[in-house]
Amino acid sequence: MQQPFPTMLLYGADYNPEQWPESIWPDDIRLMKLAHVNMVSINIFSWALLEPAPGHFEFNQLDRIMNMLADNGIAVDLATATATPPTWMSGIYPEMLPVTRNGIRLSHGSRQHYCPNSVDYRREATELVRRLGERYRMHPALKMWHINNEYGDHVCSCYCERCAEVFREWLKARYQTLDKLNFVWGTRFWSQYYYDWRDILPPRITPASHNPTQLLDYDRFMSDSVLACYLNEAGILREVTPNVPITTNFIVTFKAIDYFSWAPHLDIIAFDNYPGITTPPWEVAIRHDLMRSLKHAQPHLVMEQTPSQLNWMPQNPQMRPGRIRLQSMQAIAHGADGVLYFQWRQSQAGSEKFHSAIVPHEGSEHGRIFQQVAQIGSELKHLSQEVVGSRIAAQVAILMDWQNWWAVEYRPGPSDQLHYWDEIKAFYRGLHQNNVPIDFVSTHDDLKGYKLVVAPLLYMLRSGTANKLEQFVAEGGVLLTTFFSGIVDENDHVVLGGYPAELRKLLGIYVEEFDPWIKGMANEVVVREGQMQGTYPCTLWGEVVHLEGASALGVFGRDYYAEGPALTVHQFGEGKAYYLATHGSEVFISAMMSYLCKEVAILPLLGIEGTLEVTQRRREDGRSIYFLLNHSEEPIEVVLHDTVFRSLLSGEVLAGSMQIAAHDVIILLEEKDAQLEGI
Ligand code: GLA
Ligand code: ZN
Repeated sequence: MQQPFPTMLLYGADYNPEQWPESIWPDDIRLMKLAHVNMVSINIFSWALLEPAPGHFEFNQLDRIMNMLADNGIAVDLATATATPPTWMSGIYPEMLPVTRNGIRLSHGSRQHYCPNSVDYRREATELVRRLGERYRMHPALKMWHINNEYGDHVCSCYCERCAEVFREWLKARYQTLDKLNFVWGTRFWSQYYYDWRDILPPRITPASHNPTQLLDYDRFMSDSVLACYLNEAGILREVTPNVPITTNFIVTFKAIDYFSWAPHLDIIAFDNYPGITTPPWEVAIRHDLMRSLKHAQPHLVMEQTPSQLNWMPQNPQMRPGRIRLQSMQAIAHGADGVLYFQWRQSQAGSEKFHSAIVPHEGSEHGRIFQQVAQIGSELKHLSQEVVGSRIAAQVAILMDWQNWWAVEYRPGPSDQLHYWDEIKAFYRGLHQNNVPIDFVSTHDDLKGYKLVVAPLLYMLRSGTANKLEQFVAEGGVLLTTFFSGIVDENDHVVLGGYPAELRKLLGIYVEEFDPWIKGMANEVVVREGQMQGTYPCTLWGEVVHLEGASALGVFGRDYYAEGPALTVHQFGEGKAYYLATHGSEVFISAMMSYLCKEVAILPLLGIEGTLEVTQRRREDGRSIYFLLNHSEEPIEVVLHDTVFRSLLSGEVLAGSMQIAAHDVIILLEEKDAQLEGI
């Protein structure tokens, strides 16, 4: 892809006209114009119509849809339709259907019923994608490819015979010899030794707990297998349409798929944003920051969000008025260059008929939901030119490693209460309250440019990570890591000689024992001096920590390690490495995050902390755009110091104090030469 994409803020929806008589289509176009729709995702679940019988393709209807959209200036995000093979296919190739861990072969009749390693599925998908690519390569409506749909959502692991075979090949490529595999899998334990590659199986149901390294390799293998499906399609499309950007819709906090390893293969990151009615704003913000970071601040897209109610929660309340507008603006505020919905017109039949849509069953533009969507569309159109392409620049990062996520949660372990994503969320929340830009980084990313890196629960340290963190701190960075870190290597083997092993020198501590608590057990972190002074409850975990160069900022309040270090800091080179030996309370983490931000001189954007969410996008011309989002039920007063801004929504020039109404947003562009005195 050569051109920067997109060139305007994208706004639209999944559009499924094949569910409707063609007589309705002109009204769709009329309504799309009213809603300011400029892009639709089509063809997502159309394979059965495109290929009604083996090798017999019918593109006439899709031609008409593409032509209609082109004629009306609506761009197409064209899906490859491979998420749901036609029913005849599983009749001819029953082994294409996926098999669960306990050996049950799933049926067709819903969606995503294919084994990612099925030769038949891959061959049939290849053929369909090649034909789609060749047919529409020059079509004026085609602006982006949407490969498959939410990879792994329903079937993220398959345990069939074919997967077993491909797993063996994957292992041979990784380890070359059985000796190596036996060592890495630790098969002297419980007599699991392998004498022949043929005896290796996927981790199906076993009498007792699985070999954890086998589980880890299977998770790696499955993430790679699903990626191979994507790469198969992307390879064809890159050949046929080298200039059309390619994406697929991610599911954000999706444990099974290592999105960091996928990101280089997408031209633009897109994800589906489905917070529930009670999801707090920071938990939506974290999704954007993770997704955006996958391609290092390049703008991302929200491929789907609901215009109001969902249909897949136990109960599905409507989103309250104003919520979707704020959520859409929050997406842009966190670096997205487009927001699309699921879906355009509410289905009349099928399992999603009660999922909300922009055009409801009633069919007109007069309802609340349509009106709200149209208002957002008009606002985004207005913002587009000033905002598109501007980027978030963060100096704070959270280090996240999907493989660590898998490994730290295998059972049995020291505690079934170790939830990696929850630990990450706890620190994100604390940082987010400070209104500082936050990136996510992987263990492969360069840490230069960051001042503060938070790496919670880094149980598994893959090779090179400890060195990278040492270098980061030695050169002046501030690092915080937490309990149960530096425990195993990338094979899930404990690194001997004293925890936290490879991090011991950097952190200046030795952890003699870790102590996962049962329900009802708790402790306190006592900080006797300094800005964080206080006594804070802590839960989940305690440790017996010895200082080896670090000093204790906080100590445990009780139990046999009372007065033992709970929060430590170690000067290492030019920087500092902090370690928290427990799961701190919300108040404690929040105090700690403010403390660390101040320590590295990262101040809240516009000096605003608290209930208002503030973000900043930087433009190429050096001017910043600030988004001030009021997620609360009350108006909030803000004071803007020193700078003059122009409101991009109202056009007014603003300075000094102003009020932001409940559930409202103000978007401010720094005026040129904007020092207050100069105006
Ligand atoms: C997912 C899918 C869509 C639809 C929506 C409903 O995101 O990608 O096809 O099922 O959920 O919320
Ligand atoms: Zn399989």
